[in-house]
Amino acid sequence: MLKEEILTILQESKGSFVSGQILCNQLGVTRTAVWKNILLLRKEGYLIEAVTKKGYCLTDDSMTYNAFEITKELRKSGLDMEVLFQNSVDSTNLWAFEVSNQYDNVLLVADEQTHGKGRRGRSWSSLPGCGIWMSYLMKPKIQIGNASMITLVFALAIAHAITKVYERRVEIKWPNDIVYRGKKICGILTEMRSDTDGIRALVCGIGINANTTDFPKELESVATSLKKSFGVPVSRVKLISEIMKHFDVYFGKFLKTEDLSELKAEYEEILANRDKDVFLIGEETAQKVFCKGINNRGELVVIDENRREMQIHSGEVSVRGIYGYV
Ligand code: BTN
Repeated sequence: MLKEEILTILQESKGSFVSGQILCNQLGVTRTAVWKNILLLRKEGYLIEAVTKKGYCLTDDSMTYNAFEITKELRKSGLDMEVLFQNSVDSTNLWAFEVSNQYDNVLLVADEQTHGKGRRGRSWSSLPGCGIWMSYLMKPKIQIGNASMITLVFALAIAHAITKVYERRVEIKWPNDIVYRGKKICGILTEMRSDTDGIRALVCGIGINANTTDFPKELESVATSLKKSFGVPVSRVKLISEIMKHFDVYFGKFLKTEDLSELKAEYEEILANRDKDVFLIGEETAQKVFCKGINNRGELVVIDENRREMQIHSGEVSVRGIYGYV
């Protein structure tokens, strides 16, 4: 694509001018074609100066968010992954299922979701410019009953990616919320279509409050963003790439055994609920138990008031801390 070719040349000389004539000669196109594409790039947020007799100079591309930048960053991490991007979509999970006939593996990213979906039928606020709203579509050749563990694999990958980029410890609230100092930063919604032949499509939808500054009153006590927590704006492109790089490694370990035996220790090391009393919240019940950790299948291992050990599957109940959300 001409636009991307021009961008690549400008990025290679970032901060210096590249003459219009050089662009035309190198790409075999007219000056009008170059100019039209410079305008398109500016629309996408690239800051490009145009000066007569000097040419074009890319001054800033640090906050641009599109498939080209994400793919480029993924490649730097050694991941050759197909990326689809839209400025606005209803839900990246819905979009992933819509394209599931065309792709086996693809990362779908949107700047805004108009109908973001949360777990348990809740909605997920997904305003433009401030979050990472993305879904990873895959068709793993594994037992259907083992698929739900992939959500925990993603949670581990996201937590470690955040720690790598920001040098801060974040924790996992079982099964897959990422929290910082007891407040939620990220949620994951995994959805699957399967039939008698196995998994048709598995979609892991990830929502990260990256640069969000204001939360609705009712969420203020339980939610936060990376920017609010760490005080620095987030490069969504960098963080996505770091997440997928970590996921690639952890998913490889998961596939060896189709369970979490190789990841359990790392997961438990950052499990916020570990060695704490928690409430298991059912439809109309709240049972106080002590949380020991997880087992190799990613189930929560708890001790009830009669000292009986129980294994809790993630679909059955939700977990709340005794004094708050975690
Ligand atoms: C949760 O309730 O904690 C899960 C939230 C998951 C939100 C993400 S944002 C990207 C993907 N698309 C959706 O509609 N939902 C998930």
